[in-house]
Amino acid sequence: MGVIFHKTAQQFHLFNNKISYVIGICPDGEVGHLYFGKRIHEDQILVDEQTRGIRPLCCNRKENEDYTKELAMLEYPAFGNGDFRSPAYEVQQDNGSRVTNLVYVSHNIYPGKKRIPGLPASYVNVETEATTLELRCLDEVAGMDVTLFYTIWENYPVISRYAKIHNVGKTTFVINKASSVCLDFYDNEYEWMQFEGAWGRERYPKVRNLSTGSSSIESMRGHSSASYNPFVIVKRKNTDEHMGEAIGIHLVYSGNFRAKAETDMYGKLRVTMGINPRWFAWPLAPGEEFYTPEALLEFTQNGLNDLSQTIHSFLNHQMVRSPYKGKGRPILLNNWEATEMDFDEEKILRIARKGQEAGVELFVLDDGWFGKRNDDYAGLGDWFVNTDKLPEGIKGLSEKVNALGLQFGLWIEPEMVNEDSDLYRAHPDWVLAAPNRPRSLGRHQMVLDYSKPEVVDAIYDMLYQVISTANISYIKWDMNRSITECYSQGAPATEQGTIYHKYIKGVYSLYERLIAAFPEILFESCASGGARFDAGMLYYAPQAWCSDDTDGHERVKIQYGTSYGYPIASMGAHISASPNLQTGRDIAIDDRANIACFGTFGYELDLNEISEEEFQKVKEQIVFMKEYRELFQYGNLYRLRSPFEKNIAAWMVVSEDRKDAIVVTYKTLKTPNVGIDRIKLQGLNPDAKYRINGGQTTYGDYLMEVGIPTQDGEESWFYSDGDFSSRKYILKSEVTN
Ligand code: GLA
Repeated sequence: MGVIFHKTAQQFHLFNNKISYVIGICPDGEVGHLYFGKRIHEDQILVDEQTRGIRPLCCNRKENEDYTKELAMLEYPAFGNGDFRSPAYEVQQDNGSRVTNLVYVSHNIYPGKKRIPGLPASYVNVETEATTLELRCLDEVAGMDVTLFYTIWENYPVISRYAKIHNVGKTTFVINKASSVCLDFYDNEYEWMQFEGAWGRERYPKVRNLSTGSSSIESMRGHSSASYNPFVIVKRKNTDEHMGEAIGIHLVYSGNFRAKAETDMYGKLRVTMGINPRWFAWPLAPGEEFYTPEALLEFTQNGLNDLSQTIHSFLNHQMVRSPYKGKGRPILLNNWEATEMDFDEEKILRIARKGQEAGVELFVLDDGWFGKRNDDYAGLGDWFVNTDKLPEGIKGLSEKVNALGLQFGLWIEPEMVNEDSDLYRAHPDWVLAAPNRPRSLGRHQMVLDYSKPEVVDAIYDMLYQVISTANISYIKWDMNRSITECYSQGAPATEQGTIYHKYIKGVYSLYERLIAAFPEILFESCASGGARFDAGMLYYAPQAWCSDDTDGHERVKIQYGTSYGYPIASMGAHISASPNLQTGRDIAIDDRANIACFGTFGYELDLNEISEEEFQKVKEQIVFMKEYRELFQYGNLYRLRSPFEKNIAAWMVVSEDRKDAIVVTYKTLKTPNVGIDRIKLQGLNPDAKYRINGGQTTYGDYLMEVGIPTQDGEESWFYSDGDFSSRKYILKSEVTN
């Protein structure tokens, strides 16, 4: 692993055992892109013939009329100088010009990786894990110094990228666009997978053809959103779960973003991703610096399962920072679907006691414990306990829960305020609101202006009071509406285009302060379910609530889609009551559990309300999950059959040493008179014999090449397993590797 600089050819070759990323300086000094893919020899000089052999409608230099940017593959392309595709950045200078041209000046190569001030980013545990290349470029006319950062990782086919823009001139310029990544491809025979949805159906995978025109996804909601996730997979058309080339691109950011793919008339593809340039205008005064968020580029030649395994392992090791990093997550019980805001201490303790009897480890008190929070019209912003409901406060309740042998967790929604709150009455100018216009509400609440440090300070002080006086082990941080009327009251007109980005930086700063003050707390992020599930959030909160939709059938799709870009250990997954609150669907408790196993696992119901028979099953599920949680949460995941394509879906996890594996199949609807279907397993040791569910043993190669039947012979013609049913296979082998 390392970075080699070929001085004569002016090429930089970043490489590890799996990948190469090659950068070359163009004839006019701009930083060009030469290659990203499977490892090639690092002493090979690449030839750039991209800019020859066409008839461009413009050239870039009088002294070199053969050179054109129309076809150049570029790392951080400018606007207005002969490249007619989407630029990576756009800067408006004080004379009104938007034309820029960055020229390579110098570079620096060093072990390890720097942090990005105020933003989440992948990090090294020890310096030998990665090597970083910094490329310094200059636009002398604009007085703009741009540093491009690239990190290559020893153990992962991953490149991390971001940029810093520094005003070294004498006048202020305005950054209107600053992408985190631009990736040019030699051809356009690609498609991408995006992960899209809405409340209750987050991150469904969808494939789009990229061979013509432009395609983009974005968020303008102020959070990464359930509409589109800031993660895409650019892949060859024949790439499937088990074979083929693909590049994953994550934006490590939780605010407005845009990912854009563009094919030009020469059959080349360009993909850019970064902060959404829509209503982004960042004035940069002389001496000031601006950092883009980080982007991650992940590569595979071996299909989407391999890509996801890289991503899971990378995010678990190089992004998550919690003391729970790499550890099995506590099995929790949350009261939200059981009580909503209608509770008192006794009701809560009754639920917690039953949880303790079942074997759960962590009790979480959700919304409704603070201010005058009896419904969602009041209370947000008043982060002090409602003693009518909890006379002995959070302190008293947490002690009682602790006395049961359970950890105690708490829900907060610190970015929001209700009109009916002491905070809003005292500080009406602390909400985002456009002058002389009505404010849109979402769930009857307004968004606090986190671009103002005094707002973040006030919320921090209130939360500190609550958390420091009780024994709190877990916090669920919610965010239940999108941002509208994004205007900071009292800030000058020239600052208004910075507010979306300053807002999310304010959120990050509050997370950072709470983590520093309470390093042992396990954070789970949440946004009306899974509307802020992104790599940036994982830097602060190692788990995220996948969706408010806890229906087992819907969860199969949501978790399956989420698994492309995010680890199982990050996916909040709970078993809730049946019929389900969101869909009214009835699914057996063991089937609900088989789906929640592929996640952080917990319960979101009153266990006093279920039958004795079901309660016994819950106890067994918890014993089972305590034994296997590390396998589920950190094993290698294989998606075998998609619930979006087949009536019977399947997925499995395999331990690193391949001795243990668990397979779950899930049937949507029972269909009479169908043939016996087989599912081929993956990732096993072909030479090892696996005992299946304590019964017969079978060779790994048989299980992978012939497969397992999805139903039993005599049942197949009519009495097959029921609707919304699952099967679980536990595989154990004595042979290591
Ligand atoms: C959001 C969350 C839920 C719950 C409620 C409480 O909808 O996604 O899990 O916490 O808020 O108001």
